[in-house]
Amino acid sequence: MQRRTFGIMLLLIALLLGQVNSAPVSVEKGKLVDSIDELERLYPPAEVCASCHGDVYEQWKVSMHSRSILHSIDIIYSYIKNAVPNDPERSARAKKPGGYKAELMKCFVCHAPQLEQASEKFMREVAQAVIDYYEKKDSKAKNLLERLTVTCYVCHNMKALHPPERPEPNVMYGTKGKGQSPFHAVKRHPYIGNSNFCMQCHGAYLAPDGEPIFCSTIAQSYRDHYVAMGGQLSCQDCHMRAKNRGHTFPGTYVVDMLKEGIGLNVQVRNVIEYKPFAPLTDYTKRNPAAVITVDLINNAGHRIPDGCYWTSKVILELVALDEKGKVVWKGNKEYFEIGLDWYGNRRFVSYEIKDLVDFSLPPREVTTERFYAIFPQDVRKVELIIRVKYYVKSGMEFLVHEEKRILEY
Ligand code: HEC
Ligand code: HEC
Ligand code: HEC
Ligand code: HEC
Ligand code: HEC
Repeated sequence: MQRRTFGIMLLLIALLLGQVNSAPVSVEKGKLVDSIDELERLYPPAEVCASCHGDVYEQWKVSMHSRSILHSIDIIYSYIKNAVPNDPERSARAKKPGGYKAELMKCFVCHAPQLEQASEKFMREVAQAVIDYYEKKDSKAKNLLERLTVTCYVCHNMKALHPPERPEPNVMYGTKGKGQSPFHAVKRHPYIGNSNFCMQCHGAYLAPDGEPIFCSTIAQSYRDHYVAMGGQLSCQDCHMRAKNRGHTFPGTYVVDMLKEGIGLNVQVRNVIEYKPFAPLTDYTKRNPAAVITVDLINNAGHRIPDGCYWTSKVILELVALDEKGKVVWKGNKEYFEIGLDWYGNRRFVSYEIKDLVDFSLPPREVTTERFYAIFPQDVRKVELIIRVKYYVKSGMEFLVHEEKRILEY
């Protein structure tokens, strides 16, 4: 950290002295590098940009892009520790020259694309850091992994042009392309303002050796469902331009975003349930009841839930309490995407998913659930609670909506 602050100070001094008129690229592109310092010379870290784009940097810092290995460490660890050495086909491929790196790039191509320039030796150090951080919370390992993120340079240079166009070094591509910077050239390119730019990473991926990796499937859902149903907004419209979200990129972990994504509309009507052919005067043959309709409206640009934790689900939960607070009725419905391996086994980690079954909430659609709740005879007043929750994984769940209705009989 200190070293980087020092680096920025040096940079500023150099700028003042007119020594630097372009980013400090001293390592030849195409050559593989052996350390994080060399890698950062090729792909300047966000802290370098922060000295002039402080506001954007602060936003980026709260986004998941700024911790794209640390935040995904559990499954990346399980891949490196278990899948690569123990899966016979994978470990055979990993033993070939360049093979270990190729297997790891199946995650890092999106989680830390800079590692494309890493040597096999450096890649093994990164892998060891993943293990040391996950198993022992090793601080040296953490320092390394903190520097391997979806940085400014990744988006504004490395991934900023539509392949096969190649970015030029030290050019920052943006949607405006105006202004002069002593540090870098500025060029306009519409691609970075388009959904396809985000879809490079936010979708199913085919590795160079042909293995499909399903981490996120947002791109497919966006294009084949949201757009197909008439949706016109881009990823940037909702995730950046709306409400000046800028570079904070809110998603699942921001409850306001979840509230915006899942609309809830509840209609309830009291009913008295009589036993067939019972006389209306016979109170022993009647039960208080309710018909309930719940509309869940997906306002996002893709299915909900999505994401790489294949445990994620949206839970609709209805609970009816009597006057004493005792549960007298329950209703429940869950929405999720199932990942399967080739053999039809349900799987929960990205590198095993090869086929999909979709029970999620589709975009631009209203999903309607109806319930007929029958309560015990003596109940005169019911409190009906309707909850919508977003469950990510064990121990992590967000309450998105909670509504209450009082029913009197
Ligand atoms: C995940 C990709 C991504 C990352 C990471 C990213 N940006 Fe951006 N940035 C964009 C996109 C997309 C736009 C255009 C937004 C639009 O069209 O509304 C943009 C716009 C900008 C702009 C011009 C608009 C403005 O807000 O002034 C600047 C400057 C900028 N980014 C700097 C940075 C800096 C500095 C960082 C790192 C701290 C960074 N970006 C990280 C994708 C990214
Ligand atoms: C020495 C100061 C300085 C540094 C360091 C710097 N920039 Fe800039 N950048 C500018 C200036 C000045 C502009 C011109 C536009 C403006 O005034 O905001 C600009 C413009 C941009 C734009 C806007 C492009 C557009 O089309 O709107 C992007 C994107 C950008 N910079 C990204 C970066 C990234 C990424 C880094 C770090 C690798 C970085 N900048 C480092 C000063 C700097
Ligand atoms: C270089 C690959 C890459 C690009 C390009 C990229 N992202 Fe991401 N994005 C990631 C990764 C990796 C994560 C997950 C990090 C984590 O959780 O560990 C992420 C996380 C996110 C999240 C948070 C997800 C959550 O679960 O809450 C949102 C929202 C997001 N990105 C939106 C965008 C948008 C919009 C764009 C285009 C402007 C974009 N991203 C471009 C790789 C990328
Ligand atoms: C119409 C607005 C809208 C559009 C268009 C849109 N999103 Fe979203 N996105 C949302 C909302 C709202 C949420 C929060 C609900 C949720 O978690 O699914 C969200 C959630 C996400 C998440 C976290 C999802 C999860 O379940 O882990 C990611 C990542 C994401 N969006 C990326 C994208 C990308 C990439 C695109 C373009 C291909 C895109 N979004 C287009 C509104 C939108
Ligand atoms: C094509 C790009 C891509 C590849 C390849 C990829 N990921 Fe991801 N990963 C993402 C994006 C984008 C997100 C954020 C998506 C979201 O939360 O919806 C993400 C999120 C995650 C998360 C966090 C999930 C969450 O909901 O917060 C984990 C864990 C993860 N990835 C592990 C892996 C592992 C392990 C691999 C390799 C086997 C891998 N990923 C390969 C793009 C990718």
